[in-house]
Amino acid sequence: MAIDIWFPLAIYYEDIKDAQKHKNKMLDKIHTLRDKAVTKRTNEESSWTGDIHDIDQLHNDSDFSWLTLEVRKHTLEYLKTLGLNVSKIDVYAQRSWPIIAEKGQSVSRHTHPNANLSVVYYISVGTDANPGSTRFFNVSKYNELSGSLSSSMTEAYSEFNTLNFEQADYAPKEGRIVIFPSKQPHDVTANECDAPRISISYDLVITAQKETDKGTPEFLMPSPSSWVKL
Ligand SMILES: [Fe+2]
Repeated sequence: MAIDIWFPLAIYYEDIKDAQKHKNKMLDKIHTLRDKAVTKRTNEESSWTGDIHDIDQLHNDSDFSWLTLEVRKHTLEYLKTLGLNVSKIDVYAQRSWPIIAEKGQSVSRHTHPNANLSVVYYISVGTDANPGSTRFFNVSKYNELSGSLSSSMTEAYSEFNTLNFEQADYAPKEGRIVIFPSKQPHDVTANECDAPRISISYDLVITAQKETDKGTPEFLMPSPSSWVKL
């Protein structure tokens, strides 16, 4: 018997070596930014997220330059692994923001439709309990042979494995960077630690390079350097 597995989802992660050296400076700045933020727009069960509090340009803040460079390096590695020719495209950070999950707080299921690639970097993670996980949902379900066959109500499966997983959980770890396709639905489960789980997210877009002799390739977003505001 042989089984071939096709069309996998690729999630990148790496533990950055000198993360601890940069931790406190970034944490101090995040707390300063939060203290100055507009009126709180999240409820008690939800993590505080900078993107809905007008703090979404960390990539333009020199206090986060180290991380932005790491995001660049690891994103290019990810793209090369996916088979892209990184000498033919540009990648831009369009939005980046801090997330603070106090004990009991989570992030509900969502995608990042404004972007192509999304990044999360964990600055501070508690260790006294379950710090929660980023959970990616299997929306393709190529091997689900009828709708909702995998529902817990059917009891149709004797095991869950690489051919039928409903979800994949990535536990946070200080200094770890995770990169994934922005269109992949995900949530973040509740932080059960006393200490807050603090991370930074980046949304990235892929565009054509500024100039080529052949113009912009069809289907690749033109470089923003050629755009005109109307
Ligand atoms: Fe997200």
